[in-house]
Amino acid sequence: MNKLLVSLLLTLGVTGVAQAAGTALVGDAAAGQAKTAVCGACHGPDGNSMAPNFPKLAGQGNKYLLKQLHEIKDGKREVLEMTGMLTNLSDQDLADIAAYFSSQKGSVGAADAKLVERGQALFRGGNVEKGLPACTGCHSPDGQGNAPAGFPHLGGQHAGYIEKQLTAFREGDRTNDGDTMVMRSIAAKLSNKDIKALASYIQGLH
Ligand code: HEC
Ligand code: HEC
Repeated sequence: MNKLLVSLLLTLGVTGVAQAAGTALVGDAAAGQAKTAVCGACHGPDGNSMAPNFPKLAGQGNKYLLKQLHEIKDGKREVLEMTGMLTNLSDQDLADIAAYFSSQKGSVGAADAKLVERGQALFRGGNVEKGLPACTGCHSPDGQGNAPAGFPHLGGQHAGYIEKQLTAFREGDRTNDGDTMVMRSIAAKLSNKDIKALASYIQGLH
């Protein structure tokens, strides 16, 4: 091989590595905190929101958070309350924000005692007759989720928010669960009563 070709290949190889590193931005939690002043009004300064319609972000998996931030920014997931808020944020800003909220400790709520039995049975066992898989398979038995896989943490989340998401997946109003339509196909098998029971159970789960 001639020298020119070798150096050309080396150059290509090196820029290839640099590009790959550039796409996987590493978030800086401290820098992220400084970029979340506007978010705190709804989601709470540390990501533990007080209102049931605003999701808690504290302790949520980094990969899941980053995916949602990009998709809310691009309009692939519609959040009217956040219109325009992410427009001027760079990929690095979003990575920093995701790193900040994922490093915070999430708070836990309480389940309605009347709904626990039904909610727990569905969450842990699914429903064989309906072909509904157990939620634990992806979201884990304690609701921690699976951060590296991008399966969101659910435990302690507001029941009102969970109920809205499961209904939105079922009705096709939330469609950013990928080509496999994993959550749309699962939610399609849930009745309103199932959704209420699951949401209440999840609020108290930890
Ligand atoms: C005016 C209130 C409001 C403000 C301010 C706001 N959000 Fe939101 N955000 C919402 C609502 C409401 C939802 C849930 C929408 C839905 O029900 O699907 C949401 C959803 C999210 C989600 C998805 C959570 C999940 O579990 O899937 C993320 C991530 C998020 N917001 C991040 C941010 C960040 C970062 C900021 C600041 C730059 C911000 N939000 C500012 C109201 C707000
Ligand atoms: C095969 C894996 C899998 C199973 C089983 C599963 N989920 Fe999910 N779930 C996901 C994935 C992946 C997402 C994230 C979709 C996205 O990227 O927007 C998700 C998202 C969610 C969300 C939205 C979270 C948020 O913060 O907005 C809720 C609520 C949820 N799942 C509840 C459930 C419940 C309840 C069950 C059981 C009836 C269940 N899931 C079973 C994979 C799964």
